[in-house]
Amino acid sequence: MAPAPRRERFLSRGEGPLTHWHGEPVAVWEGLLEVPRFEAWGAVGSTNDRVAELAREGAPPFTTVVADAQRSGRGRGGRSWASPPGKGLWMSVLLPASPGEARLLVPLVVGLAVARSIEALCPSIRARVKWPNDVVLVPEGARAHPRKVCGILCEGVGTDVVAGIGVNVAQLPSDFDPEIRSRAVSLAMAVGEAPPHGRLAREILGQLRSALARPTFRLEGAFAGELRSRDALLGRRVRVTGGPEGIARGVDHTGALLVEVGVGDLRRVMAGSVHLADEAE
Ligand code: BTN
Repeated sequence: MAPAPRRERFLSRGEGPLTHWHGEPVAVWEGLLEVPRFEAWGAVGSTNDRVAELAREGAPPFTTVVADAQRSGRGRGGRSWASPPGKGLWMSVLLPASPGEARLLVPLVVGLAVARSIEALCPSIRARVKWPNDVVLVPEGARAHPRKVCGILCEGVGTDVVAGIGVNVAQLPSDFDPEIRSRAVSLAMAVGEAPPHGRLAREILGQLRSALARPTFRLEGAFAGELRSRDALLGRRVRVTGGPEGIARGVDHTGALLVEVGVGDLRRVMAGSVHLADEAE
């Protein structure tokens, strides 16, 4: 995908830290969300940067920052992430330290937490994880194209990880840049009335707490089974940018994508962007 133009948005009001978020004082949200520290901003550069700043000051795991808008929200690969006011849940969470070899698994765990949350709040939706860091909605009809509803950006700060989660909540098709419009979707587009941001944040944080309560060093057991059942790429022909093209055969225990390039010839992909082979990049 071509890099999106960089957006700098300046709001006329509610730019700094907020005392209230979605009708409740921020201190009340801290309790509702069951996090040790919570900040809500009207507009911020990037919630990932703010959480990284707090982490460097010694903030505890599950410190969480949300913003109504981000002036320089970012996605993977140096791309910008459009974060218009009120349209999405723009949230970052400081995750407990995990060993280096588990780093590839962290975005997948976060993706599962988001997919579960979306289905818990919007039961008519089928949410899937698209390796390595997207949550997509798959319309009924097996070969239908998945559309991205959430992007995840995990960044290291020392031994900690900041998980940035951008969920498209209230956008209409015209709110998306033309170059991503056919591949993006919001919860409102999918179900008519999207869940409130606060309920979504609460659900995601609850799912993250339970997913991270056990070690995520290896992809095995129930976690592996659920990821396989939610794998948006499994069995589809895929093209990895700068990598192989073949049939996606799931994810191995380290979190690497397996691509079958010839009969029985599996390639492990550790990083990159993946497209369905018949989908425009
Ligand atoms: C991607 O799909 O490329 C990842 C997008 C991640 C966007 C979220 S929004 C909250 C957090 N703050 C950021 O600047 N980025 C992440």
